[in-house]
Amino acid sequence: MNYIGSKYKLSDFIATTVHKVVGEDLSELIFCDLFAGTGMVGRHFKSKVKTVIANDMEYYSYVLNRNYIGNHLPLPQKEVFIEQLNNSALVSGFIYKHYCMGSGSGRQYFSDPNGQKIDAIRQQIETWKHNQTITDDMYFFLLASLIESADKVANTASVYGAFLKHLKATAVKPLKIEPATYHLNDHKHQVYQQDSNRLIQQIEGDILYLDPPYNARQYGANYHLLNTIALYDHFEPKGKTGLRNYQKSAYCQKNKVKGAFENLIKNARFKYIFLSYNNEGLMSAEEVKNIMSNYGHYDLVTKDYQRFRSDKKENRKHKASQTKEYLHILKKQ
Ligand SMILES: C[S@@+](CC[C@H](N)C(=O)[O-])C[C@H]1O[C@@H](n2cnc3c(N)ncnc32)[C@H](O)[C@@H]1O
Repeated sequence: MNYIGSKYKLSDFIATTVHKVVGEDLSELIFCDLFAGTGMVGRHFKSKVKTVIANDMEYYSYVLNRNYIGNHLPLPQKEVFIEQLNNSALVSGFIYKHYCMGSGSGRQYFSDPNGQKIDAIRQQIETWKHNQTITDDMYFFLLASLIESADKVANTASVYGAFLKHLKATAVKPLKIEPATYHLNDHKHQVYQQDSNRLIQQIEGDILYLDPPYNARQYGANYHLLNTIALYDHFEPKGKTGLRNYQKSAYCQKNKVKGAFENLIKNARFKYIFLSYNNEGLMSAEEVKNIMSNYGHYDLVTKDYQRFRSDKKENRKHKASQTKEYLHILKKQ
């Protein structure tokens, strides 16, 4: 998924640094990905550590992590369920009604048939859960598969803050559910949907990986449609973009971020803390260093990399820009 701040391209860099600092063998350790997003970093460590704790305040992210991290045993017949979903007859439900042109909503986040397909599939998954045809593990596997597959055919430049006037090529392609394949292993993992600063008071472990938002863009607003598909609740979509009420993170607010971050570091019961933060963030590298240094031995590694930004004016084009990724390291004392 093309996700703001995704560590897809940086997970090798993060893993190499963690190994250098903590050691090669992590098999007895607890690793927490507290701002997990797509779950990319936790997925990288799932096979290397004893337990992954994954958390994010957004429900769509909980669904992805509940599948990619929480699911660790084989799910019999999962391909059969995926095939049935792909063969569902179209339904004009909530997504079609509010987010497709054909219903007269004035919004075009999906083509008409793709919106109707999302409705059909989402309703079928819920019916199976309600009838106890599927387990919780299967439910989250199917929901994660739907979220990822729907995102691929969304008619947006990249996020859901706006839709495109005309259907782009990928949005015209018929939606096909691809299985959200996860890594199998013997260990149980933990997945939460909580505010980071609250959860930190309830957990402890060895390695804490922090990847909070670094600017004012709230994820709940930028990915509102993923929450709407995942929750499939009923509400009155607002304005041109059909926004739902969303949660606001302290990490996206200039006047709250430093207080929240210091509080998090103070309360963390983890020996090693790694923080990804970039050079254009609401907190400067110096501010981060000053806060972290109060709680133990501080270090920093950086990496230059190319980031792709969506350009609102040129909708479909993406601009590459050079940016520096900072990995702040704290050995807590
Ligand atoms: C930079 S993204 C993480 C990206 C992730 N590492 C990945 O590779 O996909 C930041 C995440 O933090 C979440 N978030 C923001 N504020 C939060 C908070 N107070 N508690 C928990 N999660 C939060 C957002 O929903 C978002 O998914």
